[in-house]
Amino acid sequence: ERKAVYKIAQIGGDGIGPEVINAGVRVVNAAAKKLGTFKVDFNELDWSSDRYKKTGKYLPEDYIEVLKQHDAIFFGAVGAPDVPDHISLWGLRLAICQPHMYANVRRTRILPGTQSPLRDCAAGDLDWCIIRENSEGEYAGHGGRSHRGMPYEVGTEVTMFTRVGIERIARFAFQIARSRPRKLLTYVTKSNAMRNGMVLWDEAVENVAHEFPDVKMDHMLVDAMTVRMTLNPKSLDTILATNLHADILSDLAAALAGSIGIAPTANIDPDRVMPSMFEPIHGSAFDITGMGLANPVGTFWSACEMLEWLGETEAAEMIMKATEKACVDGIKTRDLGGSATTEEVADAVIARLQ
Ligand code: NAI
Ligand code: MG
Repeated sequence: ERKAVYKIAQIGGDGIGPEVINAGVRVVNAAAKKLGTFKVDFNELDWSSDRYKKTGKYLPEDYIEVLKQHDAIFFGAVGAPDVPDHISLWGLRLAICQPHMYANVRRTRILPGTQSPLRDCAAGDLDWCIIRENSEGEYAGHGGRSHRGMPYEVGTEVTMFTRVGIERIARFAFQIARSRPRKLLTYVTKSNAMRNGMVLWDEAVENVAHEFPDVKMDHMLVDAMTVRMTLNPKSLDTILATNLHADILSDLAAALAGSIGIAPTANIDPDRVMPSMFEPIHGSAFDITGMGLANPVGTFWSACEMLEWLGETEAAEMIMKATEKACVDGIKTRDLGGSATTEEVADAVIARLQ
């Protein structure tokens, strides 16, 4: 059901996060104005490492209730040079996403007007959708440390897979694969070396596959997958992997498509209990913060994913086309070989909305 006004939680976060999110907000508002069929009400929340350093907390106590008042979350990045990364990640991003947003969707393709670092890879040769299990696995947070500071100190990080967790993400991935022209799903594990949880993965995915006889499926071990992605990108379409494996493979995917700055992420709660969260794949990049060098394309693409999830397909397509046109016209940031600033790219995209 279409709503006239969408309420979006805007969390810029740290580093270049607010820079790219502000650019994204401008582009979304411009598209909504152009179409005139809906409005977006962005509610800016100051949940960031600055807040943590001032108050000791990334999030207010009632953050779940606050987020539930929104239709979606538009997120930049979290991470500061003077806060340990595991504190910032668990304090903000994982606190928001786990356990409801169990499907992480990471699309990658080579945008027109940009180049892959692969010699013989043209736009169209690399068009993937990576589905990452987003709630358990290697990032379940199970484990501990004993005998701190001793030579025999021990740290455990227990990987936790459940049949329910694997089957629900597998069904989600098969549905995505089915919706794409090639109907091809490759799932990735490491079930030769990891003989418990990863074998459960293989069994559970193969089990779900019977429900989707129209989707072609194959299996890769994660190490061999890096080779196939690099040497035969054309042979892949939809990719399903665990939390850790897909985290790494999607960074590789973004790099092979041209830049970490272009790739989008959707953290989806398919049950719509929580608003889903949309963010560029990159981090807070403090090496380029405040310099106008941040590529906002990954954020624009994430905004398109958000609009699509809200049912505003026309607006999503409008922004994506305008973004591609700006790339073709050479209005790109430094990471893509251009010299435009974040704001100039946003201006160029807004000027090309039609
Ligand atoms: P990063 O993604 O922030 O940066 C990696 C490299 O890519 C840097 O050289 C950076 O300048 C460049 N880069 C990233 N985004 C770019 C963009 N939009 N345009 C142009 N260049 C871009 O990853 P890094 O350096 O490992 O992490 C920095 C901080 O971000 C850490 O605190 C880390 O924990 C955090 N982080 C947060 C994430 C999130 O919030 N989802 C994801 C990844 C990292
Ligand atoms: Mg990552």
